Amino acid sequence: MKKHLLTASFTLLLSFAFAQKQNVIRPGEVWPDKDGNHIQAHGGGIIRLGKTYYWYGEERRPGLDTNYRYVSCYSSMDLMNWKFRGDVIALTKPDTVLENNKWVLERPKVFYNATTKQYVMYMHLDGAVKGVSKSAWAYDYASVGVAVSNRATGLFKLIKTFRPLGKESRDIGQFIDDDGSAYLIFECRPVKGFYIAKLSDDYLSVEKEIAFIQSPLEGGAVVHYKGLYYAVGSRLTGWSPNANKVATAVSLAGPWSEFVDIAPPDTRTYSSQSTMFIKVAGTKDTTVIFMGDRWKPTALWDSRYIWMPVQIGEGKLWLPEPKPWTINVKTGKWKQMEDKPAPGK
Ligand code: GAL
Repeated sequence: MKKHLLTASFTLLLSFAFAQKQNVIRPGEVWPDKDGNHIQAHGGGIIRLGKTYYWYGEERRPGLDTNYRYVSCYSSMDLMNWKFRGDVIALTKPDTVLENNKWVLERPKVFYNATTKQYVMYMHLDGAVKGVSKSAWAYDYASVGVAVSNRATGLFKLIKTFRPLGKESRDIGQFIDDDGSAYLIFECRPVKGFYIAKLSDDYLSVEKEIAFIQSPLEGGAVVHYKGLYYAVGSRLTGWSPNANKVATAVSLAGPWSEFVDIAPPDTRTYSSQSTMFIKVAGTKDTTVIFMGDRWKPTALWDSRYIWMPVQIGEGKLWLPEPKPWTINVKTGKWKQMEDKPAPGK
């Protein structure tokens, strides 16, 4: 009994320590939300509305009902402290052509449409297709799903699934330009490259091809910085990390430069895969954050986040070795922290 009490108070103490305000991002470590739980927003996407950031991602916590696929939502005012706002969609098998229950919902991205006042979620839906797939685990559906909500925190409702521009679509990415235009990035295996496509005015469909970048890359992420567009992607090695690459262009439509490494290739992007960029334009500085996933395929819930400000400008983008850092979202300034052990370690 005593032992139980002790364990309970220790756990309470630990979660109290975690619930403390955090002023540091520790790439690669467990990232506790305000309740002390490791953030579950893998392969995610971030939007800012007013002063609030919303982070949506793959909910992978253990014990989920395997008949559903879940997307989580977190909110933050400072990019360091995140409050879990719940799972914003619990999706059942979205199409009868899907062969079995091994289908996946990956890389959800939410856009806010100021005209319709709707939140529009895109997600990668995939799995084995009846009469087509040779393996039960195949990614042959290669489609996107669109779900909508009137609130940032859901619930979202699936309205359709389709192939953007009629093409096979696997990893998706989201890009919102400085003028507010919204784009979907999607990888297309048969043509060995990825598309940047403009969404329709209501964001409910993928309207127009802006660029096709012929390079077999996924995890597509784009940022617009000082008159140049930077597109980053990872090679097609599944959950295993590889050396991510970057190309640049003056216009989103291209022409795009050759792809070059964003980090020493032998680090395999510090064991991570690109997901998106967050641009923090503050009163004093603009910081561009690389947001990557360090996947743990056998324990996806325990996958880690590699967030790190990049060195960017004049056509160069470089990811420094991820180390603990802090940011002030008002000024846009970030700085590296001294290496101190995480609380509770
Ligand atoms: C990766 C992709 C992930 C997931 C994984 C499955 O290449 O980026 O989102 O689809 O493959 O193996």
